[in-house]
Amino acid sequence: MIYYKTYDEIELLRKSNMLVAKTHGEIAKIMKAGITTKEIDKMAEEFILDNGGKPGFKGYNGYPSTLCISVNEEVVHGMPGDRVLGEGDLVSVDCGVLMNGFYGDSAYTYPIGDMSTEALELMKITKECLYKGIGVALIGNRIGDIGYAVQKHAETNGFSVVRDLVGHGVGRNLHEKPEVPNYGKQGTGAKLKEGMVIAIEPMINAGVFTVQGLADGWTITTTDSSLSAHYEHTVAITPNGADILSSFDFCEEELKKNERELVH
Ligand code: MF3
Ligand code: CO
Repeated sequence: MIYYKTYDEIELLRKSNMLVAKTHGEIAKIMKAGITTKEIDKMAEEFILDNGGKPGFKGYNGYPSTLCISVNEEVVHGMPGDRVLGEGDLVSVDCGVLMNGFYGDSAYTYPIGDMSTEALELMKITKECLYKGIGVALIGNRIGDIGYAVQKHAETNGFSVVRDLVGHGVGRNLHEKPEVPNYGKQGTGAKLKEGMVIAIEPMINAGVFTVQGLADGWTITTTDSSLSAHYEHTVAITPNGADILSSFDFCEEELKKNERELVH
């Protein structure tokens, strides 16, 4: 069943998602060549705990870490470890927080230094796909309208949409009904109603849409080793439109500072 949230519950969800957003701000500060993915994970875990939250993914179906860090052809659910990030890597970081009984969930794809034209284009289009989906997350529309908007923008730009993983409701559980696919037909699926809170999270590939799981039991990669990007916001459906409860403001502010450092 779909859990519809009250005003007060949405404000609690906003708090959890704001902590996720601030954690992304801290992640952006250290997203540089030479760092290992487990160093990023450790910092994020400490930051979340210091700010009164709990890592939302740790322990979920036995997942061992605070973040999912997925590099280049890795789509999602990459496990932090000894991998050293290098110049040109495209790094998707997914972060969840549990606070006051409610989850926050948001992902951002970070560039490491100078990026290929293809990687930059993939990041730009994938983020645009997310906002296209959010733009039609309106009362009276349907879940399929979100998927359609995301898919159309991705495919018009020559990229493909991952089918095997989808967005989801967010609340007292990390994953609630309804599923929110990033592909679909207009006018199909569950109706969007006031009080629904959903994570919209396009995973877009530069090559084929098919993905596979690695032997570690978690990491998902593209089957053709093409690049993949992932952006995710948690949003509430309200009479005033989609209310984005997470935020990229903190990480994007830091990324701008990183760019200025590179220039000087
Ligand atoms: N953030 C992922 C999602 O949006 C969940 C990660 S699954 C976990 O669905 F097990 F790694 F936590
Ligand atoms: Co999610």
